Amino acid sequence: MEKFIVKGGRPLCGEVEIQSAKNAVLPLLAASVLTDEKIIIHKCPRIADVLNMVQILGELGCKTQFDGDDLTIDSSDAANHEIPSALAKELRSSVFMLGSVIARFGRARIAYPGGCDIGLRPIDLHLSGLRRLGVKIEEEGGYIDCTVEKTQGADILLDCPSVGATENIILAAVKGKGRTVIRNAAKEPEIADLQNFLNRMGAKVAGAGTAVVVVDGVQKLHGAEYTPIPDRIETGTFLIAAAMCGGELLVKNAVPENLAALLHKLREISCKIRSENDKIYISSCKRLSPKLIETSPYPGFPTDLQAPMTALACICEGSTVVVENLFETRFKHIPELIRMGADITVRGRSAFIRGVPALKGADVFAGDLRGGAALTLAAVAAEGESTVSDLFHIDRGYTEFEHKLRGAGADIRRIRV
Ligand code: EPZ
Repeated sequence: MEKFIVKGGRPLCGEVEIQSAKNAVLPLLAASVLTDEKIIIHKCPRIADVLNMVQILGELGCKTQFDGDDLTIDSSDAANHEIPSALAKELRSSVFMLGSVIARFGRARIAYPGGCDIGLRPIDLHLSGLRRLGVKIEEEGGYIDCTVEKTQGADILLDCPSVGATENIILAAVKGKGRTVIRNAAKEPEIADLQNFLNRMGAKVAGAGTAVVVVDGVQKLHGAEYTPIPDRIETGTFLIAAAMCGGELLVKNAVPENLAALLHKLREISCKIRSENDKIYISSCKRLSPKLIETSPYPGFPTDLQAPMTALACICEGSTVVVENLFETRFKHIPELIRMGADITVRGRSAFIRGVPALKGADVFAGDLRGGAALTLAAVAAEGESTVSDLFHIDRGYTEFEHKLRGAGADIRRIRV
């Protein structure tokens, strides 16, 4: 087991380089199954979720190879339509494989992906969308069996703008017959990235980033090379770190327009922020309360930055209400923050935070990916020494997290116990 040892209370000064977006790379890897020609994903982060997805591709018969941070995928010999249950459970986003495996083989079998650290994570919208495309779906004994000769274009309205459902339907429709229209589609930048990648492979997808995505089925997709967009959630995590610790930070390889909701909130609490091309500069000396943080689908405030923002609100002047509208149990970090001296009351999906001058170091445990990142930021900002355990949660989504924080002046190191 590994843990961070952190001596907190130092300002952050320096720069960090952002990795490619986890939530863009995962659907790109799923899409690579749609062609039997070579795919190269440049700047592919070796985070646990990506390595798990690469393992799933291997189980399907794909050949994968890392050369530095370039990942080559050759699906020419892929022949297995069953996504291994152990891996599917390990990686919730393996459900994104459904659409592309169905499109490749006309069949797909996957263990029902259970809930996860942050909530029930239903997939009813994924399945109803696939059924609208003509996929026959049987659910039995914890498995989902999908069959279809070739998907048929359909007009699909999503009850809620689900990222995964939008991506799965696109992946199932790109080689189908006719036109598919997805209404109330999720508008996250990662979906536009998937569209750009698929179109480079010869697909005809339009409208990603808006509420209406149109897919015109094509016969064949060819190989492609692609560099995914930078990770807006990693970017936001480091900007919040700078706001919590004070000092100044230059974030490189960022896409400021993908973080408008967060930048607005950080300016509201009196951070100085300047963005230019792919760089964001932040300096922070005092922190006024953000008053209200309410998560909502893009372009609203991202649920994936709720935990780091909650940690920041703990040491802002004044009170803040945080409302988590997307997931049922995404407050696991709050009891740990309270052990560090935070003053928070939770009622259902709302957390009522009264700012304190500083958090105190403590031994805390990550409960999920973004909560673990939030607790690490809290430890770096707190007075005194902390440990952060269960780092496997954090390693799912951040490469070199402690190295990047240390490079900006934090006193943090990883030890094996
Ligand atoms: C994606 O998850 C991201 N994961 C999540 O990031 C992110 O928090 C989430 O989108 C919201 O932005 C990846 O892209 C790999 P959803 P996803 O379907 O697709 C409900 C992280 O930390 N819903 O958009 O699973 C669901 O309950 C992770 O990087 C249904 O009701 O999220 C939730 O309330 C965590 N039925 C809402 O939609 C469905 O069939 C949004 O979920 C599907 C979803």
